[in-house]
Amino acid sequence: MTAISIGKTDAATSIALPLRFANRHGLITGATGTGKTVTLQRMAEEFSAAGVPVFAADVKGDLSGIATAAPVTFWDVFGRKGHPIRASVQEMGPVLLARMLSLNDTQAGTLAIALKRAEDQSDFLLSLDDLRWQLQDMQDDRETVCQVYGNITASSIATIQRNILTLEQQGGARLFGEPPFKISDFIREVDGKGVVNLLHADDLMEAPKLYGSLIFWLLTELFRRLPEAGDLDKPKLVFFFDEAHLLFKDAPKHLLESIERIVRLVRSRGVGVYFVTQSPADVPDNVLAQLGNRVQHALRAYTPKEQRFVKAAARAFRPNKAINVEEAVLSMGVGEALVSTLVDDGVPMPVERIKVAKPSGQLGPLSDLERDEAIANSPFRAKYPSVTEGARYIWEFQNRQRAARGLSPLPETEVRERAPMSMDDVLAPLTTLQAARGSHHLRTLMTGLALIAAAGALSLMAGIL
Ligand SMILES: Nc1ncnc2c1ncn2[C@@H]1O[C@H](COP(=O)(O)OP(=O)(O)OP(=O)(O)O)[C@@H](O)[C@H]1O
Ligand SMILES: [Mg+2]
Repeated sequence: MTAISIGKTDAATSIALPLRFANRHGLITGATGTGKTVTLQRMAEEFSAAGVPVFAADVKGDLSGIATAAPVTFWDVFGRKGHPIRASVQEMGPVLLARMLSLNDTQAGTLAIALKRAEDQSDFLLSLDDLRWQLQDMQDDRETVCQVYGNITASSIATIQRNILTLEQQGGARLFGEPPFKISDFIREVDGKGVVNLLHADDLMEAPKLYGSLIFWLLTELFRRLPEAGDLDKPKLVFFFDEAHLLFKDAPKHLLESIERIVRLVRSRGVGVYFVTQSPADVPDNVLAQLGNRVQHALRAYTPKEQRFVKAAARAFRPNKAINVEEAVLSMGVGEALVSTLVDDGVPMPVERIKVAKPSGQLGPLSDLERDEAIANSPFRAKYPSVTEGARYIWEFQNRQRAARGLSPLPETEVRERAPMSMDDVLAPLTTLQAARGSHHLRTLMTGLALIAAAGALSLMAGIL
C-alpha cells in the first residue's frame, strides 16, 4: 500500500493520499453536519490498515464505532471512558499551564518563576496541589523571591491560586499526576494494523482551553520524544486535531508562534497533523500554509463574512478547469468534498470533487458495554489503571484505616471488583490520595511503601527459592 483512498469522483476515479506525503499535514473543513468526522473516520481506518498508528480526539463521542474496523485504544483524561493520560505540572510547562489557567502575561511570568524556583529547589511539581504549595511558599518568602527571580505581586499569586481552583472544578486536577503518560504508547501495531488512539473528549469540551492545551502538549511530546526520521515511505503516526479552532482562539502571540514551530518541526519526526474545523479561516495563515492535503466539505454563506470564507476556501486549491470551486463549496451534499492531496514531487494536485467513501466501521458510538470490554482487554490496563479501578484501592485503604480506628466500613459504591495487578495499581490511587490531601509527607510515605513492597517481594522470592 503506497496511498490511502479517500473517495471517488463522479467519473469513478479514485482519489488518494500518498502515504509518503501524509506527514505534510492536512486540513478537513466544512460546516456542521457536512461529513468531517466521517471523513476523519475513513482516513483513520485507511491509515490503520496501512499499518500507520493514529491519534484522534473523539470530540462528540461519535468516533468510537471505528473500533469495529480497527484496533483501538481508548484514552480519557478523567479516566472514566479510557486509560487516563496524566502529566506532571512541571512537564506541562509554564506556557500551556498559563493557557489552561487563563493567565495574563504578568501572572504567567509569576507562574514561570514558581516552576523555575521549584526546579532550583529540586522540588518536583507533580499535581496542582504541589503548585499551590509552591505558590504559597513564594508568597511567604516574597521578598527573597523578588530579589532572586524578579518582581512578583501578591495579587498575581492570588489570581493563580484562584484560577487553579477553577481548573480543578473543570476536572483539570485529573490531568496532573501519576502514572506519567508515555507518548510512545500511541505508536503501536496489532496484526499489521496501526492502532487508533481515541481520546474521549466530550467532557473535556467543557473546558476548551484545557482541551486545546492538552492536545498541543501531546503534539509537543511527539516532537520531543521521537527521533528525527527523514523521508519515510509512510508516517510514524497521524494526528487528527478535531475542533482545532479551540487551540487558536484567543491564543497569545508566543503560543501561536510555538504552535507554528512545532507543526513545522514534527513533520521531520514522521508525524502528520490533520486539523479538523469548520472553516480554513479558523487556522492562522502560518499554520495553514503548512497543510498540504486538503479536504473541504460544504460551507454555508449567509453573511458577508461567510461569503469571504467561501472565496478564501476556493483560493486555497490549485484550480481545475472542470470545477467551479466557489459554486461547489456552496452546493455539495453531505459526504461530498473538494479534495487536493500532494502528489508526484509533493505538488498539490488540481482540485477534485469527490464522494468520500463510507468507512467500513460502524458510524456513531460503540455501546458502553463494547467500550468497557475493549478497555478491559487493553494491554495498558495495568500500566494506566482507570479511575474506577483506582477508586477501589482508595476505598480499601480508607476502610483499613477506619477498621484500625474501630469505625464501620464505608459502603462499596461505584467500585467495581478487580484484584490488584501490579505495583502501579497500588501506587496510582495513593498518588490520587496524595493529590487529595495535598501532603508532601504522603509522597515520602509512598516511596517508602514502594520500597517496603519491593523488599517484601524480594524476601518472598528468596523464601520460594
Ligand atoms: N461519507 C459519508 N458517507 C455516508 N454518510 C455520511 C458521510 N459523511 C457524512 N455522512 C452522514 O452525515 C452525518 C453527519 O456527518 P459528520 O458527523 O461527519 O458531520 P461533521 O461535519 O463532523 O459535523 P459536526 O461539525 O457537527 O461535527 C453522519 O452521521 C452520516 O450519517
Ligand atoms: Mg464532527
